[in-house]
Amino acid sequence: MSIPAEDALSAAAQTPATRASGEESIAVELDGVTKRFGKIAALDDVSLLVRRGELMTLLGPSGCGKTTLLNLVGGFLMPDSGEIAIDGQRVTDVSAYRREIGITFQNYALFPHMNVAANVGYGLRMRRVAKAEIARRVADALALIKLAGLEDRKPRQLSGGQQQRVALARALVIRPKVLLLDEPFSALDRNLRASMQVELKEIQRKLGVTTIFVTHDQSEALSLSDRIAVMAEGRIRQLGSPDEIYRRPVDRFVASFVGDVNVLRARLERIDGAIATVVLGAARVKVPSRTLQGAATGCIVDLFVRPEELRPTEPGMAVAADGIVAAQSYQGGHVDLYVDAPEALSGRVLLRVPRHEGMSRWRAGAPIGIALAADEAIAFRPA
Ligand SMILES: Nc1ncnc2c1ncn2[C@@H]1O[C@H](COP(=O)(O)OP(=O)(O)O)[C@@H](O)[C@H]1O
Ligand SMILES: [Mg+2]
Repeated sequence: MSIPAEDALSAAAQTPATRASGEESIAVELDGVTKRFGKIAALDDVSLLVRRGELMTLLGPSGCGKTTLLNLVGGFLMPDSGEIAIDGQRVTDVSAYRREIGITFQNYALFPHMNVAANVGYGLRMRRVAKAEIARRVADALALIKLAGLEDRKPRQLSGGQQQRVALARALVIRPKVLLLDEPFSALDRNLRASMQVELKEIQRKLGVTTIFVTHDQSEALSLSDRIAVMAEGRIRQLGSPDEIYRRPVDRFVASFVGDVNVLRARLERIDGAIATVVLGAARVKVPSRTLQGAATGCIVDLFVRPEELRPTEPGMAVAADGIVAAQSYQGGHVDLYVDAPEALSGRVLLRVPRHEGMSRWRAGAPIGIALAADEAIAFRPA
């Protein structure tokens, strides 16, 4: 049980792709990985490079294969085909224990009969680390996650947030090569979740530990990640920075899954190389032509516009669509207006307006002109 990771991995060969991609900067590599459960391909020929020190989020709906991918990296599942490498060493058939991975699960999975210190020190005891060293590293880990002083508590004497911190400390204390977090904050209430997200980000930056974070919550993914892999049905649909994913989704699925979006029926006016011009009412907007391959000039396209890119028209503005306010929803800092408009694919458009004008001016039943506030958007051919 005391075999250092280097020994455990020394027999493993590097994959050609690892060498080619600059192994120094790549912490985790999946190369054509497929995992089936019976007839279902939980992961379908997935390739992914996770950079050293980055926080990569796997984002996608329930059942898309996020946990399966995490378990394959952790060594808790073996792929049917494809290869996995950690720090440039092939680990496809290396056991979980020898991969030097830290993992936390959705339900914390703390040992109920052990106190906090014993829970956090568990992985070090398994690795036969000397007692004094364990005490020091456990104390450091508890300080890092701000739980110093609670060493003697049992898990049942802790709040949900504190239990999640203990789970994080337990994963970090072994100084893992990669930290794997499976929906760690999903059981926490909204405020606590937000503060844990910020804290995790700070700790992750401070330690520089390569992290793969799983969530189905798009706002969590946008706020936490260096890069996001958006998944659907066992495949990665798009890999990019939060801003790329939000502003330049490659397909309708990504555009709809990440962030609120309005889908409006518009007309393709022209294509000039990489840029296309789309007309909606009296308004024109530029979109990348890449997502409109094969669309003919004059045909109907679906314009995807974020709520914050729409606003009520003011005199002199081009009216993109006319609608009737169906409902207003007070959100504190702003007001969400739900507007019935025939141009919307769903029949309804969501706008975000400042609080003061939202509540007084745009009551249910009020007619409203909608303008495009952005000079760029994205459009796809109708589904
Ligand atoms: N042990 C298993 N046995 C059978 N099917 C499984 C097993 N684990 C996962 N699956 C199936 O594989 C797919 C992906 O599951 P999972 O990776 O858990 O998704 P996610 O974590 O994104 O919700 C789902 O269709 C799920 O039902
Ligand atoms: Mg899961």
